[in-house]
Amino acid sequence: MKKVILDTDPGIDDAMAIFTAFEHPEIELLGLTTTFGNVSVEQATTNALTLVEMAGVDVPVARGVATPWFKDLSDFPDFVHGTDGFGNLNLAAPKGKPIDQSAAQFIVEQVNANPGEISLIAIGPLGNLAAALQIDPSITSKVKEVVLMGGVIAADGNVSPVAEANILSDPHAADKVMAASWPVVIVGLDVTHQVVLNNALFANIAKKNSKVGGFMSKAAQFYIDFYSSIRDIDGCYAHDVSAVAYVVDSSIFGTIEGEVCVATEGVAIGQTIMSRFGIPYPLTFWADRPKQKACMEVDSDRLVALFETSMTSDFWK
Ligand code: BDR
Ligand code: CA
Repeated sequence: MKKVILDTDPGIDDAMAIFTAFEHPEIELLGLTTTFGNVSVEQATTNALTLVEMAGVDVPVARGVATPWFKDLSDFPDFVHGTDGFGNLNLAAPKGKPIDQSAAQFIVEQVNANPGEISLIAIGPLGNLAAALQIDPSITSKVKEVVLMGGVIAADGNVSPVAEANILSDPHAADKVMAASWPVVIVGLDVTHQVVLNNALFANIAKKNSKVGGFMSKAAQFYIDFYSSIRDIDGCYAHDVSAVAYVVDSSIFGTIEGEVCVATEGVAIGQTIMSRFGIPYPLTFWADRPKQKACMEVDSDRLVALFETSMTSDFWK
């Protein structure tokens, strides 16, 4: 079993990742931590609590940062996830409440209590991880790995020609996370844009999973409608669930490594720039940074199968 904290801004594809983490027998989910991103942090926290209740699991939720570290807060992308984050399904409010600790405090406490054991999976902007590093920089040597859906190394961005949404939402926090001496794995658009989840898949999930399948399929429809309106695909990309899949089975992915800087201003703001190929560039931006990994290849069939198996297993009966 792998101990996991999942940092999230739910979010339709976040819900896919969260349900997979709830279900997967390889994952012991210690908690969900929330951030602004797809929606406000208030809505993200409500949504995380809703998913916990819907699935009937006992997983604490810790509320996190409401704004970027330095940059102004941008409008939330309601055209991608709906104003409620779940495709405007406007579900009833959950009964549960977040715990008293902040997301960053929860991360620091859990990492110190479980040295060497926790995989931090981050599928939203990275302010909570940056805040945890500020509270206790020693967590870098105690976290097993930081696996994040965010960034793009060689493919196109999705919120600018070079930037991915989670990184652009808080580039200063992202740069702090990349510079820290802990093992980061970027599961970014280089791989998530290679994996499409289609309507037939969600219809099967709705049929076989009477607990959360109907919700997941309806919310996914909103996400699919958005993607099919802007890209030539019949479905949606498997962004956030890809980071969970990496923790469960990293052999689904092929990686490269190099030092990473995040552009924090100018036309390239939000770009994740990896110094790769071992070229001795004269610029010193990457000097003294640790080598981090980035996923560049993915076995799409195995990733889709992992998600479908997880969403249709007996766990949901
Ligand atoms: C990322 O941005 C958000 O809209 C998604 O939830 C995902 O985490 C994809 O760029
Ligand atoms: Ca997300």
